[in-house]
Amino acid sequence: MPLILPAGTTLVAATHNPGKARELAALLEGRFTVLTAGELNIPEPDETETTFVGNALLKARHAAQVSGRIALADDSGLSVTALDGAPGIFSARWAGPGKDFAVAMGKVEERLQEVGTDDYSAWFTCALAVAWPDGPSVVVQGEVHGSLVFPGRGDRGFGYDPIFVPRGHDQTFGEMDPEAKDAMSHRARAFAQLKAALFE
Ligand code: IMP
Repeated sequence: MPLILPAGTTLVAATHNPGKARELAALLEGRFTVLTAGELNIPEPDETETTFVGNALLKARHAAQVSGRIALADDSGLSVTALDGAPGIFSARWAGPGKDFAVAMGKVEERLQEVGTDDYSAWFTCALAVAWPDGPSVVVQGEVHGSLVFPGRGDRGFGYDPIFVPRGHDQTFGEMDPEAKDAMSHRARAFAQLKAALFE
């Protein structure tokens, strides 16, 4: 039998970040009731896996097991070709405890200068996992490819948006209309796959 998420299902978003929970709820188009792991006092597991898919699955399975409800988790980040995919799953951690992405973007630029490359290609990845408390889980992954520019431009996005120019465009994600970014982003692509896989 195919796994289906009926409209109206209550889902646990495996995040303690209310902003992320809102973003997940918006992407789910009001189709589901979204509770957060933070609201339910479910502790965040250590992200011990080595891939976006692994960490998204780990977070979704953990929240489903502890809450007894269907859980949704994401894991995302920026990967730079010339840095062997770094910062990758460590994208948030490169910003340090102060979550300062000027620091993180500076680190990317510094590492590229150390490597001495002219390959500034990079991509964003978003893995989304849904886990049922009684076992099965589904995971999908979306990517958007492009290249990096320094200094960064634009203040409309978040994280690494100011230094990322998607392929075929001139503006960075930080300069672009949020709707334009949302139409092509790694998150939108992962969600499109999840919808195709799980929604009625
Ligand atoms: P996560 O919350 O562990 O998935 O962290 C993902 C990190 O990757 C965040 O801290 C962001 O800075 C970065 N990231 C993920 N998606 C985007 C994006 O769309 N734009 C800019 N940075 C992103």
